[in-house]
Amino acid sequence: MKKIARDWVAVSKVVVLPLLLLPLCMLLAAGLGNQLGPDPAKALVDQTGLWAMRLLLLCLAMTPLRHITRRNFWGRYRRMLGLFALLYALVHVCSYVFLLFGAHWSELLAELTKRPYVIAGSAALLLMLPLGFTSTRSWQRRLRYRWVQLHRLIYPLSLLVLLHFFWVKKLGIQSVWPYALTLFCLLGVRLWWFFRQSAGLV
Ligand code: HEM
Repeated sequence: MKKIARDWVAVSKVVVLPLLLLPLCMLLAAGLGNQLGPDPAKALVDQTGLWAMRLLLLCLAMTPLRHITRRNFWGRYRRMLGLFALLYALVHVCSYVFLLFGAHWSELLAELTKRPYVIAGSAALLLMLPLGFTSTRSWQRRLRYRWVQLHRLIYPLSLLVLLHFFWVKKLGIQSVWPYALTLFCLLGVRLWWFFRQSAGLV
């Protein structure tokens, strides 16, 4: 039964991978076709930022799904979702650096020092990079229990992304709250498990 589940998951990844790439392909096609509106660079920064956030939340949802459904296969999508969140975040930042700022480094440095949302975004990206880099099996074997500790960085970095998003939007909570609510639920359920575990209730 386990073997079929493993193969089934491997087969499903062949389908899931192009699905995760689809938004990026559609954005790039729209960009090349001049269909990203009056400010295509900003639209690309916004949309890739949103997809990076959505994939981060989806990655965080796999463990609760595994617990709730008592099916381990959900855990096998975490690496793929995490790496795609990093891919979209990198395209997001490259669009910002090269399209919005035309790689004017002195201006970028000024932005980095004066805009809190850029500081929060940069800190989140700096925490995402080592997680992506160490997502392979060989790093998991090499780091062992420290790998689990290192990958807990996904919690503070997802809060940093939410803060970045909140500060960017300046519109307050309107457009951010669905993401905030989802993140707080995904972190809240982990806190609840942690306290139940430390109280010896599970
Ligand atoms: C060096 C790091 C980063 C920089 C410089 C940066 C820059 C930006 C900028 C300039 C915007 C606003 C564009 C606008 O609407 O005016 C933005 C929005 C956003 N960013 Fe980032 N970002 C960074 C990292 C990240 C990371 C790592 C994530 C997620 C994993 C992320 C997710 C978002 C989201 C969700 C938005 C809101 C998009 C929207 O409102 O439609 N950013 N970012």
